[in-house]
Amino acid sequence: MQTETITLRKDDDNVVTLVLDDPSGSANVMNDAFRRSLREATDWLVEHKDEIVGVLLTSAKKTFFAGGDLTRLREVTSDTADEFFTGAEAMKSDLRRIETLGVPVVAVLAGSALGGGLEIALAAHRRIATEGAGVFGFPEVTLGLLPGGGGVTRTVRMLGLADALTKVLGEGKQFRPEQAREVGIIDDVVPDQDAAIQAARTWIAEHPDAVQPWDVKGFRIPGGTPAGGPIKDFIPAFTASLTKQLKGAPYDAPYAILAAAVEGSQVDFDTASRIESRYLTQLAAGQTSKNMIQAFFFDLQAIKKGSSRPSGPAPRQARKVGVLGAGMMGAGIAYSLAKAGVDVVLKDVDDAAAEKGKDYSKGLLDKAIARGRSTQEKADALLARITPTGDPAALAGCDTVIEAVFEDPALKQKVFGEIVDHVAPDAVLCTNTSTLPITELAKGVQRPADFIGLHFFSPVDKMQLVEIIVGAETSDETLAAAYDLVLQIGKTPIVVQDSRGFFTSRVIGTFTNEGLAMLAEGVNPTSLERAARQAGYPVGTLQISDELNLELMQRIRKATEDALRAEGQPVPESPAGTVIDTMIEQGRPGRKAGKGFYDYDQAGKRGDLWPGLTKLFPVAEQQIPLDDIKERFLFVEALESVRCLEEGVLTSVGDANIGSIFGIGYPAWTGGVLQFINGYNGGLSGFVRRAGELQKSYGDRFAVPKLLQDKVARGERFEDGV
Ligand code: NAI
Repeated sequence: MQTETITLRKDDDNVVTLVLDDPSGSANVMNDAFRRSLREATDWLVEHKDEIVGVLLTSAKKTFFAGGDLTRLREVTSDTADEFFTGAEAMKSDLRRIETLGVPVVAVLAGSALGGGLEIALAAHRRIATEGAGVFGFPEVTLGLLPGGGGVTRTVRMLGLADALTKVLGEGKQFRPEQAREVGIIDDVVPDQDAAIQAARTWIAEHPDAVQPWDVKGFRIPGGTPAGGPIKDFIPAFTASLTKQLKGAPYDAPYAILAAAVEGSQVDFDTASRIESRYLTQLAAGQTSKNMIQAFFFDLQAIKKGSSRPSGPAPRQARKVGVLGAGMMGAGIAYSLAKAGVDVVLKDVDDAAAEKGKDYSKGLLDKAIARGRSTQEKADALLARITPTGDPAALAGCDTVIEAVFEDPALKQKVFGEIVDHVAPDAVLCTNTSTLPITELAKGVQRPADFIGLHFFSPVDKMQLVEIIVGAETSDETLAAAYDLVLQIGKTPIVVQDSRGFFTSRVIGTFTNEGLAMLAEGVNPTSLERAARQAGYPVGTLQISDELNLELMQRIRKATEDALRAEGQPVPESPAGTVIDTMIEQGRPGRKAGKGFYDYDQAGKRGDLWPGLTKLFPVAEQQIPLDDIKERFLFVEALESVRCLEEGVLTSVGDANIGSIFGIGYPAWTGGVLQFINGYNGGLSGFVRRAGELQKSYGDRFAVPKLLQDKVARGERFEDGV
């Protein structure tokens, strides 16, 4: 029997194999054709149930099933919510009919099953994966959604509330087959597909009466269910991590998952399943999931496909990369390259300094081994790829160079001079400068067309973003090679044109300045830090300034002011600058010195806000509303990003969104700086109205750039490629 996306085949032994195989694309997704096919296939199974002894769920695609149809999900509105709910329920009722057919059902997973894909597999009585199957899990929470295809209801019944929430549902973790088996969402892992099918047939033969545990009379959820009393007493780990992670930030998905799991644990399966669908519908119709789907699915996917890469040059793989400077950044860059299988020559002033940089990788690997995340064998192979040296000639044959010496233009130009004759004649020359204009630096390097900025973030091994900065003379080939390298090492590139502060440093500068300006205005420093957290920022502006170091911020400001004067441009007043100068005068430049806006102990651990702060910057009697504090942060960064787009520093909306979330901690629920404007209450005109209010109350930083006004007039949004 053949439906649009599912083939049913009954074998001589009366086992029916369902092959999921959507002919319209490379992956199976939960589109209309699948829903229709599932209905037809289920009807057929029910009709023939007396003639069959078991069902195998398999896939003809590389991934078992790709999951929900996100294009469709992001179009759900409050007007179409009922229709969405009904559709979700219909599909779930078909899975339920298969689950309760009265014959054993086994899912054979030879490819990844995430989200909706895993939910299909959970309706089976047994899940057998192959060793190379890929990953399993529920990433829904990272898109502002919940697993509403039975994922919450079934995992709670399989694992118990606490484990389902903390291990599987709450953080969107993805598990390799063996880990998935340990967690309990996969039953068996076998070498390959043939072995899996064989194991499935054997299991069917041995379990003719298989039923789900929750369909057995007297079933109780493992670990029991909360009988009144506060939830935090029952599932402390999840609620504690929620409170810690979110700090009141407006992410609704984790709370909805918690509510659906707990409420669903008190009632029968079918009622629980309906509760779960209701919460999913609410989330899907809300703005946060649309923002997160935009950034974490569509924008990210576009970047991975090369949205900001020139299409002409052929793809290029780096094989041997020279890293100049084995300090904090150089050592981290070397590790990331070696981890991706690239050979690295790590050069510093002498062998000993370079060796020290290599030791950094060793330290990271020792930790990974101790946590069971790596093996000695893998660690040795990685370390063998890093050659430390003090000799420029050791860079012979390098196809790429990444410079990360001190932030001094003359030194940077000197170290490039030392190696340029040794490396391959077409080697790409990258600098990891965080502040120096690329075009200027390129003038001192012999091959400006091959020269480009590659701005990594600290700590390099954890931070996913790399900001690529294109100088005036950088060639398309160089940009393409840099883009390919960033993808090759598993990181995410954004591309910006050369300008002061590039994109990320410039925009985060407006965030810290806004916070420090509010302190000068008399906003209570405790409220200031709390408001940033509540808006969804990982850290407040006082904490981040302490981390960055106020002396560095002062140096950057002075350099910027000098440059503006040299260009004959006005130098704006800086209330933040006055705060920084005052703190430095007080001998409190930040965390490294053990004293900044916060106090620190001997080990550098952050304590409370410095009590002297409110003497220097008295708290005003009349405090501004908390919402204004939050929105001043969110708006000042969004508006600066629009200016970057207007000036051509940014050329892609997706790059702005992803760069802001991954690089500088702009809250993920917004979908990034420009998606925040798209999704603001009332859309772009709502945003412009509110910016007008902020401008009136707090200054011209909140003036709306012409590009945004024009978009409002034309009824457009911030979008790429449409
Ligand atoms: P660092 O001070 O930790 O390391 C600099 C290294 O360069 C030192 O090991 C030094 O011995 C080495 N060096 C100096 N002269 C050299 C020469 N002639 N040949 C080879 N090596 C030489 O500095 P860090 O923090 O690693 O910064 C390096 C660069 O990365 C700077 O341009 C900085 O602005 C930039 N950057 C820093 C970030 C951060 O968070 N620290 C973030 C992004 C960029």
